[in-house]
Amino acid sequence: MKHNTPYYLYDVGLLEATLNEVNSQTSRHGYNVHYALKANSNDRLLNIIKSHGFGADCVSGNEVIKAIEIGFDPSHIVFAGVGKTDAEINTGLSHDIFCFNCESLPELKIVNELARAQNKVAKIAIRINPNIDARTHQYITTGLEENKFGISPWEFDQVVDLLSKSDSLKCIGLHFHIGSQITDMNVFKDLALSVNSINQWFINKGVDISIINLGGGLGINYEQPDENLIPDFKFYFETFAAHLNLSPYQGVHFELGRAIVGQCGSLISRVLYRKEGLNKNFLILDAGMTELLRPALYQSQHFIENVSKYGQDLIEKYDVVGPICESSDCFGKEVSLPFSERGDIIAIKSAGAYSEVMSSNYNLRQLNPCVFKEKTQS
Ligand code: LLP
Repeated sequence: MKHNTPYYLYDVGLLEATLNEVNSQTSRHGYNVHYALKANSNDRLLNIIKSHGFGADCVSGNEVIKAIEIGFDPSHIVFAGVGKTDAEINTGLSHDIFCFNCESLPELKIVNELARAQNKVAKIAIRINPNIDARTHQYITTGLEENKFGISPWEFDQVVDLLSKSDSLKCIGLHFHIGSQITDMNVFKDLALSVNSINQWFINKGVDISIINLGGGLGINYEQPDENLIPDFKFYFETFAAHLNLSPYQGVHFELGRAIVGQCGSLISRVLYRKEGLNKNFLILDAGMTELLRPALYQSQHFIENVSKYGQDLIEKYDVVGPICESSDCFGKEVSLPFSERGDIIAIKSAGAYSEVMSSNYNLRQLNPCVFKEKTQS
């Protein structure tokens, strides 16, 4: 084994194929995608994403700075987030980013003040909370009234009033993001229908809405990653095209994260011990919730494969766990695998999004550098 485990392995060829597919589908509709850096901000992956013509969707000042360092054009950078600090807003203003997605009335006031102080006009989009259930895990649902995100319909009159009094804000559009890992396309249909009426409401009030930003959210297949390496972007964008009713002058933007990078990464780990319990067996890995938090935080299940025993019959069930002193440090219960033993290499799939970026050094653990699977020449 060349590399010390655990480490993240990224498939460069799959990322490029995914980006090409996104581009070929968006070009059919004239849509525009800003990649959500929060899903994975690895430099090499960002460079590849940038070179395929994507913009950047950021949720912190440091993400804005990272995007600029990588070479994303500031005119293709959007900045969302429910709690932007003054310093972060100033970072966006001083780089003349494309747009701030503003999430509350108090935030609109502060962006106006800070822009005036810099003698600038901040371009903003109003992030709307349309009260639509994304039918996904409650921790990654963002478009319900009970969630902290966005501005609700009962505040719209105040927004229009505030915009008319703000000399340093230029509203360019509306922003929506109702949740992540959405696999039911009816949710996106509901979103599109809601967008139509909210858009019309703002246009009737005389607000300039030249951009409709629909956020991200398209889910990936965690159960059968190898059969679904590239998400169904065709169906996703066609769902919006079929149900959005916008004016020809209005541009449509998206902020996809997981669907772009999710299937391109695996967490590679090694079996430390095969421990026999009374009624079950455990496989104890050298990777844990410190490297991949999603199972502990969202009860998510990633497909687990014993790479060393590839192709062998699945004859035993294991609780696949990490070494951390927390009972939630478990990647899967009753996982069917070939007979597995100390030293075997285990791949935890679909770990390209919200995985390495959410790792921590709890227990003073340290993740090894990631490895890239290079594109094979065809
Ligand atoms: N735009 C905004 C404003 C967002 O908040 C997010 C993600 C995205 C775009 C990208 O969404 P995507 O296309 O990746 O679904 N850590 C969680 C996911 C949190 C997503 C938060 N927002 C997980 O591991 O499932």
